[in-house]
Amino acid sequence: MSGDSKRPRLNLTLALTVLLLMMAYLNEWVFSMTEVQTSWPEMPRYEAMKIPTDNPMTIAKVELGKQLFHDRRLSGDESRGCFICHLKPRGLTNGRADAVGAYKVRISRSPPTLWNIGYYSEFYWDGRSRSLEAQVKDAWSGRILGASGKDGHPSMEDICRKLEAIEGYGKQFQEVFGEACTPDNVAKAIAAFGRTIVANNSAWARSWAGDESALSEKAQRGWEIFRGRGRCTNCHDGVLLTDQQYHNIGIGMDAENLDLGRYNVTKNEEHRGAFKTPTLLDISKSAPYFHDGSAAKLEDAVDTMLAGGIDNPWLDRANLRPPVKLSKRERQDLLTFLRELTVEYAVTPPRLPK
Ligand code: HEC
Ligand code: HEC
Repeated sequence: MSGDSKRPRLNLTLALTVLLLMMAYLNEWVFSMTEVQTSWPEMPRYEAMKIPTDNPMTIAKVELGKQLFHDRRLSGDESRGCFICHLKPRGLTNGRADAVGAYKVRISRSPPTLWNIGYYSEFYWDGRSRSLEAQVKDAWSGRILGASGKDGHPSMEDICRKLEAIEGYGKQFQEVFGEACTPDNVAKAIAAFGRTIVANNSAWARSWAGDESALSEKAQRGWEIFRGRGRCTNCHDGVLLTDQQYHNIGIGMDAENLDLGRYNVTKNEEHRGAFKTPTLLDISKSAPYFHDGSAAKLEDAVDTMLAGGIDNPWLDRANLRPPVKLSKRERQDLLTFLRELTVEYAVTPPRLPK
């Protein structure tokens, strides 16, 4: 065959390739603007995350939510964004026993990590928020971000008007929701971003998916103790390492201002001093531990659990007693397992609209 007869075919292939690439690009662009995205990172061997039908995930919505999450202009006094207390280097916590919200209001609980929040059905240490969307509004209008509309502080609507006037935001709200900024839209966008904070990029997730070399040998021995003699999986269960239930393990029961935890929500006697089982992902970075930050080191928290919690009339004895006796080496293995539950971060702080 001569070169002459080949050339047109080559040109045709080239043209087709270019066309396909353009279509793919255009498709991706249109897709990202309007379509529901169906595949987000998920934890392995676990039921798919439930996305509310009135808040489908789109790339543009998640991007907007990510910006709002990182923006201090969301708070009443412009001093706080969500990221302030859920920092990457601290395992998505603030590394403190308490928190200071907008207008310098002190909150007496230690922020929990945000890893895998998209899988939960109740939020906060006491589970008082029933959806991520509700949780965002709760934090925003409550003591955390202070947009209460009371005491001369701006309301969520006031802050929306301010955000709307920022060109980069006004445009995005139109693109994503087809309308201006509203408290509902802000909550939806931040919740959508929250659902992408998945700890799939971790040795733990790889190990759960069947990769036997993901955890070190020492950590694997620790895992055997964790799920065996340690009985930790009675509560820190499954790939999320939490049963999403409330247990009294005796933390803070002798405090002057007693925090009754789940009891505040349900008024069930058995919920006195019960708190939601936290996941243990990224635990090595999130000291201090427990809802009141009373354990300074991971060793302290683990020793409390091994001791069967701290005795009090409401202690979850069924799951915690008798205390677990481990050899020095076994305790070290257990700690190594917990320290290898680290998550590698994918989220980089976005550029904020000016
Ligand atoms: C001033 C610090 C602070 C800021 C700012 C903050 N949080 Fe939190 N966050 C906390 C504390 C403290 C808790 C636990 C409160 C409780 O249990 O009563 C918490 C709990 C949560 C939880 C519950 C996690 C779980 O496992 O139940 C989520 C989700 C969350 N925050 C998301 C956000 C979002 C979204 C924002 C921004 C709208 C935000 N936080 C801003 C301190 C903060
Ligand atoms: C009865 C259920 C239960 C069992 C069993 C249990 N835990 Fe927990 N764990 C909890 C609850 C609930 C909390 C939070 C309590 C609080 O802050 O008031 C917690 C907190 C922790 C924390 C601190 C986490 C944080 O983010 O502050 C660590 C670490 C921990 N547990 C490790 C273990 C280990 C290791 C075992 C096994 C030896 C174990 N737990 C057994 C329910 C349990």
